[in-house]
This record gives sequence, C-alpha cells and structure tokens, in this order.
Amino acid sequence: MSARYAIAPADVSAVIAQWESRCRPMAEGDLRDVGRLESEIYSFPWSKGNFADSVDAGYDAWVVRDDGRLLAYCVMMLVLDEVHLLNISVAPAAQGHGLGRALLDWVERRARALSALSVLLEVRPSNLVALGFYERHGYRRIGIRRGYYPAARGREDAIVMRKTFDGIAGGAAPVGGAP
Ligand SMILES: CC(C)(COP(=O)(O)OP(=O)(O)OC[C@H]1O[C@@H](n2cnc3c(N)ncnc32)[C@H](O)[C@@H]1OP(=O)(O)O)[C@@H](O)C(=O)NCCC(=O)NCCS
Repeated sequence: MSARYAIAPADVSAVIAQWESRCRPMAEGDLRDVGRLESEIYSFPWSKGNFADSVDAGYDAWVVRDDGRLLAYCVMMLVLDEVHLLNISVAPAAQGHGLGRALLDWVERRARALSALSVLLEVRPSNLVALGFYERHGYRRIGIRRGYYPAARGREDAIVMRKTFDGIAGGAAPVGGAP
C-alpha cells in the first residue's frame, strides 16, 4: 500500500463518528471516483456506466467521503420486501478499521427504512474476507448461483447470503434524498 494513500485508523474512526455528514447519496459527480476505486478493488469491476445506470434507475447508492477522498460506497436495490445489496466496497487503504461494518450497518438501516424484511447479497466463494465479514454480521448462506461471476478461467459461482431482520421497528434512516 502506498503511504500516499494510507488512511489513519483515527481518520476512519472520525468518519464513522460523523457519519451523517460523511455518507451521501451517490451523484453524477461521484461517478469518476467511484469507477476508479472500483477498478482498484476488483479484477472484474463494474464500469462507470454501471454505476451511472444504478443512479439513474433510482437504486439506493451511497458514497462515504473524508475531505473529498472517496473511502467507500454501496449500491442496493429494493425488490418487494427485500433489499438486494449489489455492491459494497471500502478503499483498500481504509479497510480493517471498521468502515465496512459501519457501511453494512447503514445498508441495514436503509433497508429497514424502506420496510424491507431482509438483505440479500451474492459473494464469490474465493472472497474469504467478505464471506467472513458477512457471516460475522449475521448473514447466512442460503444457496448458490452457478457461474454467476466472470473469472480468470471461465465463470465462478456465487454464494447467496441473507440476513433477515427480527423486526422492522427502530433504527430507521431517512428515505430518499440527501441528509
Ligand atoms: C469486505 C469489506 C467491505 C469489509 O470492509 P472493512 O472496512 O475492511 O471491514 P471492517 O473493518 O468493518 O471489518 C473487517 C475486520 O476489520 C477489523 N476491524 C474492525 N474495526 C477495526 C478497528 N477499529 N481497528 C482495527 N481493526 C478493525 C476486524 O477484524 C473486523 O472484523 P469483524 O468483521 O469481526 O468486525 C472490504 O474488505 C472490501 O471492500 N473488500 C473488497 C470489496 C469486496 O470484496 N466487497 C464485497 C463484495 S461481495
């Protein structure tokens, strides 16, 4: 990791402490940075156009910034009474300091605010960090989608995971629009 991009754990903690002003709806002006960070994180990244389409389609998409630096983002979509978490990503330099946890908590608050009863997501079996992360946060494996992801050789399956809420009261975040 380049020192130029290193983010101090204290900075990440400060971002989490000031969440309401650091986490904003993803807008057109974010797309270039989001596309760049996505390419840095994934071997098979979403394109900038994929994010633009998500925003245009009205998906619930959020960015987390600190002093203008993009630290994390997520995209989710409400399908009936379930939120499908399509993308959750933390900048490599900011990982391991609780930001992913804070963003996943935010996803769940948004899901409850949208009256969803559960959150569904897919993850690559090879992504052991994300698998452990979701399992520690209450997500359970419910199935496999065969050949769901592109891979270096052919396709890779997806593990489908779901977290069902015990109740939908409490912890609601505002629905729609910037805080
Ligand atoms: C998966 C991902 C979102 C997790 O984000 P993250 O910011 O690293 O996650 P966190 O720091 O909240 O949690 C990871 C671990 O870091 C450690 N951690 C948490 N808070 C910490 C702190 N304040 N200080 C030091 N370490 C801490 C813990 O070991 C934590 O484990 P836990 O899950 O038991 O809490 C991130 O690794 C990522 O973006 N990966 C690449 C993209 C990806 O794979 N996305 C998912 C696709 S399905």
